Amino acid sequence: MEDELINIKTTALSFIWEAEDKKSLEETKLQFLGRSGKLTLAMKELPKLPIERRTEVGRLANEIKITIENALEQKQLDLTSEKTSKIKQSIDVTAPGIEPKIGHMHPISQVLHETIEIFKSLGFQVADGPEIETDHYNFEVLNIPKDHPSRDTQQTLFLDTTDTLYSPGEMLLRTQTSNMQGRIMEKTKPPFRVLVPGKVFRYEEVDASHGFEFWQVEGFMVDKNLSMSNLFATLDYFFKQFFGRDTKVKFVCHNFPFVEPGAEAYISCVVCKGKARLPDGQGCSFCKRTGWVEILGAGMIHPNVLRAVGINPDIWSGFAFGTGLSRMATLKFGMDDLRLLTNPDLRILEQF
Ligand code: PHE
Repeated sequence: MEDELINIKTTALSFIWEAEDKKSLEETKLQFLGRSGKLTLAMKELPKLPIERRTEVGRLANEIKITIENALEQKQLDLTSEKTSKIKQSIDVTAPGIEPKIGHMHPISQVLHETIEIFKSLGFQVADGPEIETDHYNFEVLNIPKDHPSRDTQQTLFLDTTDTLYSPGEMLLRTQTSNMQGRIMEKTKPPFRVLVPGKVFRYEEVDASHGFEFWQVEGFMVDKNLSMSNLFATLDYFFKQFFGRDTKVKFVCHNFPFVEPGAEAYISCVVCKGKARLPDGQGCSFCKRTGWVEILGAGMIHPNVLRAVGINPDIWSGFAFGTGLSRMATLKFGMDDLRLLTNPDLRILEQF
């Protein structure tokens, strides 16, 4: 019996010694210590020994078991460190890595997020809406019937409605984010304050200050007893937050069919700071030597619009404004061409 045990020990140890990977080590373990492993079976024979021999042989068997277990454990550790040292030989872990290229937000997104933050702080909620729109929401609800001359100021891209349920001219790419005034107001009970950023589309010839696709942000608020002064104060606050404390804002009468009274807002030129002249005495071409740049349309929501969406204009009043977010981005970053915003050249984008 002792000979058999010693035999088991030497074979087991030599197997362990020669094991080249964890898998063969595991097999060796099973072969000797598993349920029907050689040592396990031998140990099951112990009770058959005469009682005086049993303790001694039992102790030997236990010692062998511990020796095999220790050898297995040690080999396991050796195999792991051998593997890592092989990897270490093939890879220089001290070599500097390849720096990942981390981008940053596009100028439009930067301006968008900043605008949202400012209006959120004034209690406005942000909404989104469809770019493919019906004539109804883009024009009709906004007090712009089919034959209204103001349609000419927003050259519209219509969708082909052949073979659809829509009549010709009914579906279009929205020309203004004002389309969301009707959609939101007809579903929401006043009072509310909403901000709607989004893309708009117009049939424009593209140049430095016109795009056929650009960003706008619309805002409107409906409550009791609102007046133009609430509108002026809101926009004045916004422009000062956005362009800086020393920004001057002026409002000039303007007609939009969906507001009454209506106005256009101008801010002091971001390049010459409203002086109309540059430090070298030259006239500022950015603001065409006026010291002001036009930035947004606004006004008190027309009673016809409120009525069209089921809000009683005798109880509720509201103001609305809409500005070109793309234009705000060019003003903020001092770009002289709107097209830079859609230019994918990283050398341009990296500057902002
Ligand atoms: N939607 C108008 C435009 O695109 C701007 C505007 C919005 C004017 C809201 C008044 C009120 O020109």
